[in-house]
Amino acid sequence: MSNQLRRLHINQVRNLDSVRLEDLQRVNVFFGANGSGKTSVLEAIHLLGMARSFRGSIRSLVTHGHQACTVFGGLTPGNQSIGVQRGLTGDVQIKVNGSSVRTVAELVAILPLQVITAESFDLLTGAPGARRRFLDWGVFHVEQGFYGQWQRYQRGIKQRNILLRHGKMSGQELAVWTREIAQSGEALSADREAYFTRLAPRFRDIMEGLAPSLKDLELRYRKGWDKQLSLLEALENSLSADREQGYTHVGPQRADMRVFVDGRLAAEVLSRGQQKLVVCGLKLAQGMVMAEAERGNCAYLVDDLPAELDREHAGLVCSLLSSMSAQVFITCVQREDISAVWPAEGGAELAMFHVEQGNATRQ
Ligand SMILES: Nc1ncnc2c1ncn2[C@@H]1O[C@H](COP(=O)(O)OP(=O)(O)OP(=O)(O)O)[C@@H](O)[C@H]1O
Ligand SMILES: [Mg+2]
Repeated sequence: MSNQLRRLHINQVRNLDSVRLEDLQRVNVFFGANGSGKTSVLEAIHLLGMARSFRGSIRSLVTHGHQACTVFGGLTPGNQSIGVQRGLTGDVQIKVNGSSVRTVAELVAILPLQVITAESFDLLTGAPGARRRFLDWGVFHVEQGFYGQWQRYQRGIKQRNILLRHGKMSGQELAVWTREIAQSGEALSADREAYFTRLAPRFRDIMEGLAPSLKDLELRYRKGWDKQLSLLEALENSLSADREQGYTHVGPQRADMRVFVDGRLAAEVLSRGQQKLVVCGLKLAQGMVMAEAERGNCAYLVDDLPAELDREHAGLVCSLLSSMSAQVFITCVQREDISAVWPAEGGAELAMFHVEQGNATRQ
């Protein structure tokens, strides 16, 4: 069974000076007026799971006039505890069961999170980097060994680009790094492809339920170089352009994953509400792939779920969240925004918290 957050102590996160939530449930709804602190609660959970903010810099997370913010979480089953503290000067302290942990990678495996916020539209309308990060988040949790290859590739391409930029044309050293990134790049790309073949059908299934009127939705993946060629061949072909411009033109750093509707880019044809449904579909598909791969469930942080959605579609998103075993944290303005559209049979599973001026109380 996956970890669920049962207790949450928040200190100095935005307008939350000291918030203690002791009895979190599978589905937790935070409602309240604009500026009351709802998104800040989700930020705090994100800080706990990922050691960083989902919106801005750490500076913007720490309550004005303070030096650091701290979040502590108690998990069930297994009674694990995690704590994250981040200071204005960039220092990070992560503790798992009271012992310091050195890397964020160790932390994210304990409380994997999926975030759906206004910024998530970037997945459709933003630059490819946001989509690669999304894809890699999923690959990281499902394909073992991916992170190592990814790190190896990042190191390799950095070295290769330095050589290209400084115009060191000796060729030999460059060839070493070309072979190195060809190898690690092929490996990480194979992991991405394996993952993509799991994700695409899940996404299709989910979208049939979420937006049946959207026909011929298709998720397409591009690996970042001519698929007829090996990466080594593609790198060799682009060598003169790489030397001329001082960076590596082809490879998995150029990968992309895009949604098409009837052959057209979703970002260009879908309405805002339809885009939100597609974004939810992508994130939910990722969670399902993770659960199927027996990596446990990720918890969902859904900021302002009803925004952009009509009642029927908000209800469809809620039904999906209700049918999953993942833990969910939702924000909305009025409690009825969610309670009225949550499936009737799941009504009892909703834990409602009223957020008011930086405090959250169970209703
Ligand atoms: N670093 C900070 N220190 C103190 N207060 C902050 C800080 N950053 C933001 N705030 C304030 O925290 C309050 C809560 O912000 P938050 O985004 O959580 O509100 P919200 O309940 O999600 O509102 P909305 O319904 O408008 O989305 C706001 O009044 C905001 O101005
Ligand atoms: Mg908000």
